[in-house]
Amino acid sequence: MKSVVIEQPGQLTIAQRPLPEPTADEVRVKVKLAGICGSDVHIYHGHNPFARYPRVIGHEFCGVIDAVGANVDAARLGERVAVDPVVSCGHCYPCSVGRPNVCHQLQVIGVHRDGGFSDFSCVPAANAYRIPDALSDRQAAMVEPFTIAANITAHLQPTARDVALIYGAGPMGLTAIQVLKGVYGVRQVIVADRIAARLEMAFANGADEVVNNQQTSLPEALAQRDIRPTLIIDAACHPDILPQAIQLASPAARIGIMGFSAEPCVINQQSITSKELSIFSSRLNSARFPQVIDWMAEGLIAPERLITHSVAADDVEAALHLFEHDRQTCCKVLLQFG
Ligand code: NAI
Ligand code: MN
Ligand code: ZN
Repeated sequence: MKSVVIEQPGQLTIAQRPLPEPTADEVRVKVKLAGICGSDVHIYHGHNPFARYPRVIGHEFCGVIDAVGANVDAARLGERVAVDPVVSCGHCYPCSVGRPNVCHQLQVIGVHRDGGFSDFSCVPAANAYRIPDALSDRQAAMVEPFTIAANITAHLQPTARDVALIYGAGPMGLTAIQVLKGVYGVRQVIVADRIAARLEMAFANGADEVVNNQQTSLPEALAQRDIRPTLIIDAACHPDILPQAIQLASPAARIGIMGFSAEPCVINQQSITSKELSIFSSRLNSARFPQVIDWMAEGLIAPERLITHSVAADDVEAALHLFEHDRQTCCKVLLQFG
């Protein structure tokens, strides 16, 4: 089989590898589509602290089960599935309270272990979620990115009364817009980004208002419109954003962060406590595949709106380059395997 391997930072090969056999609790997935994510690019460049090399990247993928391990029901053969990349131990403290995404022994498929940019991938059977016939392969490949939005919104508990501000209109910001509007019916969603084309995508994904915060001061733009956000999501993840979000937030607001920057940022307790703000962080997803699959089946979210390119897996290097450098036209790129 062919696999996309990052041999070491900066070195990508399409390697010929032997067909893997599933262990007792695994299934083998014949991969159909796999989405490119910023973290794949980070592993390629050696900027992901968790990655070990050589590594088959890819953690957003779907396909068909074509072999099962000894402990797995053979009835699953032929099942179309999307794969949750979060592999957890099941018994540590976070696992015991329903937070497998921060398991003490967390292993992320495509980061800590080989992933989905491959003709075949063996994964724990419990991580392979059946996709209803009504959903397309393209939708199935988009379940994982939407689970990030599902996870952060589960912390934030949006309601129709919220006025939400989202920083960043990349894939993470766009999925968050769709979930806030489509699932939770949030009254008003304002999106800030520095790239005009991304703000156009924000509108196309359901934003009510956008602000180019490179051209305009965001605090001034919100003040002019008399907006005090009650719910803020930082999907741009620059260290300067949290202090500003705290400043802009309404009393009793909730703020969600998802960045991994190691740079410090300056905040003070008074600015948080005086408004009794709640600040949540969110990492990956805690078993949210069924929820997102349901949202897709009910038509509450529209993954097609994020997909701008679909290319043959052999063109992975060009696709990674496009994804990284063309932020005007490129959002989600799907690789076709098999
Ligand atoms: P992206 O790089 O495609 O999008 C980020 C967007 O933010 C860009 O459009 C950029 O122009 C904009 N931006 C940058 N600085 C800004 C600022 N100061 N104000 C407003 N907009 C600004 O990235 P993607 O894939 O959407 O991911 C966003 C972030 O989420 C990344 O930092 C990534 O590491 C993080 N992430 C976290 C996850 C988690 O589970 N915690 C999962 C996936 C991504
Ligand atoms: Mn991803
Ligand atoms: Zn655990």
